[in-house]
Amino acid sequence: MKNHWMALVRSGRLNLALGGALLTLVAALPAQADEKKHASLSAQLMHEIKEGRIEMKDGDSSIVQELIINKNIPITWRYISTLMHTPNAFGPGAACVTCHSSTNPSESYRGLDLSTCEGLRKGSTEAPAQALFTPGKDPKRETLIRRLRNNRMPLGAAFNIPTDTPNYLLVRDWIANGAKNDQNFQSRVMPLFKQENAFGPNTPACTQCHMSNQEPPSFHELDLTSYDGIMLGADSVAKGVDKATKVIIPGKPGESGVWQHLAENRMPPGISPTENRDHPNTLILMQWIKQGAKCQ
Ligand code: HEC
Ligand code: HEC
Repeated sequence: MKNHWMALVRSGRLNLALGGALLTLVAALPAQADEKKHASLSAQLMHEIKEGRIEMKDGDSSIVQELIINKNIPITWRYISTLMHTPNAFGPGAACVTCHSSTNPSESYRGLDLSTCEGLRKGSTEAPAQALFTPGKDPKRETLIRRLRNNRMPLGAAFNIPTDTPNYLLVRDWIANGAKNDQNFQSRVMPLFKQENAFGPNTPACTQCHMSNQEPPSFHELDLTSYDGIMLGADSVAKGVDKATKVIIPGKPGESGVWQHLAENRMPPGISPTENRDHPNTLILMQWIKQGAKCQ
């Protein structure tokens, strides 16, 4: 009976029935009922569990998503600091601070200090110096999270393949010069994507995995077999052509997915591409950044 009442109140039908002085009270009811139903987080959670609103999929990541991220629990710097100092925190490998422990580039790669909150917020100090994220913003495509989630391409490419050899530079310069569909692209750049070992020994051709806009078989619906496919980008079927993820930003190799995936190694170095890209601690790190990357 009570539920029936609430349904009437929510649908607004009761307003009409009662009219007059009660109107204001009734109008205020639904919002209050939703927000202040439960004083505590755990009581609210129990309520949602009973209503079947909590989804549990695959272990840890799902728990973190439902119980921490969705509830916007404040993430402390202390927890982030612990992650930076702990081996295997984001997947098998040495702790981040073993290699990124000060702003001095002679003892810390990229002059990146992940041992302090200020250092993490500052980013790399060696040229090209750069911040790794913007506090308060979704960091999914920014440097820090790209380095934890994106596998280097071609999938399985080893950490020790240099990125300044002629084939790499052909791709980078083509993007830097406006990514045009010209003679240079057709005769020199395009063939690289179709060729085995173009970007490192024992690596498959890009087009073995990205050959059409249908997934499967093409990962991320990315078609690297033609100029139009490359410029269209990823996930054009799932998201719609207008919202496809652009992988080429003409003039800007550093912001282009194709270059980022070619040149950036996933951290920690040596981690296998099969390791979970949505590691629970990566989700928590992202949430800390979204909440403003506070040092308290
Ligand atoms: C064994 C040493 C080592 C460990 C451990 C390590 N890194 Fe790195 N990291 C490097 C090296 C070397 C580079 C520069 C080469 C490159 O860009 O791939 C680098 C580059 C980076 C960059 C790019 C910075 C920029 O300005 O482009 C980020 C971000 C980064 N690491 C984050 C991390 C995080 C987070 C961890 C912990 C999960 C980590 N690293 C663990 C060696 C390491
Ligand atoms: C063996 C299969 C394989 C090969 C070869 C391969 N990729 Fe990928 N690619 C993947 C998978 C799987 C992903 C999904 C994301 C990940 O693992 O990081 C991906 C993702 C990408 C993305 C990100 C798309 C997005 O959603 O933003 C780009 C860009 C990309 N690949 C480019 C390339 C390029 C360029 C080459 C060749 C140098 C290449 N890939 C070769 C399997 C492959």
